[in-house]
Amino acid sequence: MTEPVLSIANANLSLDGNAGQVDILHDISLEVTAGETLGLVGPSGSGKSSLLMLMGGLEQATSGQITALGQDLTAMDEDQLALFRRDNMGVVFQSFHLIPTMTALENVATPLELAGAKDAFDRAKAELEAVGLGNRVDHYPNQMSGGEQQRVALARASAPRPRILLADEPTGNLDETNGQAIIDVLFGLRDRHGATLIMVTHANELANRCDRVVRLRDGRIDAPVAKAAE
Ligand SMILES: Nc1ncnc2c1ncn2[C@@H]1O[C@H](COP(=O)(O)OP(=O)(O)O)[C@@H](O)[C@H]1O
Ligand SMILES: [Mg+2]
Repeated sequence: MTEPVLSIANANLSLDGNAGQVDILHDISLEVTAGETLGLVGPSGSGKSSLLMLMGGLEQATSGQITALGQDLTAMDEDQLALFRRDNMGVVFQSFHLIPTMTALENVATPLELAGAKDAFDRAKAELEAVGLGNRVDHYPNQMSGGEQQRVALARASAPRPRILLADEPTGNLDETNGQAIIDVLFGLRDRHGATLIMVTHANELANRCDRVVRLRDGRIDAPVAKAAE
């Protein structure tokens, strides 16, 4: 019953860089419960994005175990991970990964169609309206600002109502009004659909709304803090 939605046990991540092996994450253990909102904070280069990638199965841990919704991500191959994400996880990257040949509407509708939704385009339009982009549905990514692309990426991630949403600095490129719209969409997923939210953020406003904040430093979890105070 109280089984965590996401569980990381003694995870390490090393990557091969030009100058040899780089140790990026050290002995990370963390559990996130259903409906929890977790903020990941810490200085630039501390490993926040890398940890989010591990949680999404987008990067393979060098050692340790990562379990999401009771399934061992470290035992899945790429195809199984892709299916798992399609059915359970929304991911908003720092570089939005929108499909350049698709309009905003098509970008948001595509995962809904893949999930078999019959009203994919209507839902995609509503989702874009929720992030304040009702007037940009027919625009292509290169016709939109960074902040607008970021909002399309969030609409795309949240439209299928994922049980887990991972977002890397989701308000990073936004002014106050649009940042607030994004925060409302994020917390709406939790409040209305019970989603578990894990968000990397530098924004105090967002971190302060999280149930819990975990701080990284040099690839390790720092002493726990109740609320962000950067
Ligand atoms: N593909 C990679 N190869 C080698 N080093 C990397 C790679 N990706 C990230 N790093 C390094 O890992 C560390 C953590 O990066 P990152 O997770 O992006 O931190 P943050 O998101 O907190 O700024 C940094 O020192 C970065 O240079
Ligand atoms: Mg980062």
